[in-house]
Amino acid sequence: MTQDETQRLALRVVAMPRDTNQYGTIFGGVILSYIDQAGFVEARRYGCHRWVTAAINKVEFQAPVNVGDVICFYTSTNRTGRTSVTVQIDVVAERYMTGESVDVTSADMTLVAVGPDGKPIPFDTPPTVIEPGVVI
Ligand SMILES: CC(C)(COP(=O)(O)OP(=O)(O)OC[C@H]1O[C@@H](n2cnc3c(N)ncnc32)[C@H](O)[C@@H]1OP(=O)(O)O)[C@@H](O)C(=O)NCCC(=O)NCCS
Repeated sequence: MTQDETQRLALRVVAMPRDTNQYGTIFGGVILSYIDQAGFVEARRYGCHRWVTAAINKVEFQAPVNVGDVICFYTSTNRTGRTSVTVQIDVVAERYMTGESVDVTSADMTLVAVGPDGKPIPFDTPPTVIEPGVVI
């Protein structure tokens, strides 16, 4: 995968021993957790709200991530709705030893802006989160 100008680097992390199995490759669930965070980083651009994950589409892993690799999460927006945005997350591993970039996986994820009652709200409304953890 080649990055283009619509993609933003949302996260860049090192694969640590605690994230890997006994073979030294990362657990898929760890990547999913970072995908969730990267999706939020992209959704946050559309409003200062509480964003919840409605769906993550099928995620297929094309290559392993090894301990020490730098994992990059690139995001772009595929669709904006009334209360939701659909984000694409492309995951690339930079190999520790060589610096080579390897495509790991990509996912589509839909996040929904919700109010204090947990119900969807239009995201183009004034901020409903006034500081981290405080929803008005
Ligand atoms: C996501 C959630 C807020 C949707 O609530 P809802 O009352 O079913 O929402 P609605 O049917 O009114 O749809 C609201 C928006 O979400 C979108 N949406 C809802 N479910 C969706 C799904 N499964 N996939 C994609 N989009 C979805 C709708 O298309 C709509 O988008 P739009 O307003 O931009 O057109 C609700 O299901 C929820 O709280 N789920 C749990 C979220 C959560 O805790 N996630 C973390 C998992 S551990």
